[in-house]
Amino acid sequence: MTTEARPQATERTISVVVNGERRSATVLDRKTLADFLREDLELTGTHVGCEHGVCGACTLLLNGRAVRSCLLLAVQADGQEIQTIEGLAKGDELHSIQQAFWEEHGLQCGYCTGGIIMSTLAMLEDNPHPSDEEIYEVLGGHLCRCTGYEDIFKSVKRAIELRGQGR
Ligand code: FES
Ligand code: FES
Repeated sequence: MTTEARPQATERTISVVVNGERRSATVLDRKTLADFLREDLELTGTHVGCEHGVCGACTLLLNGRAVRSCLLLAVQADGQEIQTIEGLAKGDELHSIQQAFWEEHGLQCGYCTGGIIMSTLAMLEDNPHPSDEEIYEVLGGHLCRCTGYEDIFKSVKRAIELRGQGR
């Protein structure tokens, strides 16, 4: 009778800057970035839907670029800078994109909303005046089961206006 060695789960300590604050934790190598944020750092604004890169609910900014955090391992983010939906508002003052979604009723249950807002932020940082087609392209990367997208589109247009006013 042979005994086969089972692969051992390995873990390592990582350090990231999340919403301007340095955070460290010891994580399993196989843990996703989304699960690390939610379970280890208790930042549950990053939602998990499909867990395979389709729905966009888990979108956040990694070094300023929108990424699907369900498709990344936490260890891949070691030493990097992360921005999540929790980092947008300043106290009681909503970020302009959040304000726009509130004004234009761009959400219902809100499950998809954080991810859409983070993608919108990445788009507007790159291109403050996207065309309607460019907005549709970004929104096409997100699944929303509630809104029908009309009000989400209006919210992004309103966010562009607010940013134009220096918000
Ligand atoms: S949970 Fe990451 S894309 Fe759906
Ligand atoms: S608001 Fe419910 S899934 Fe988008």
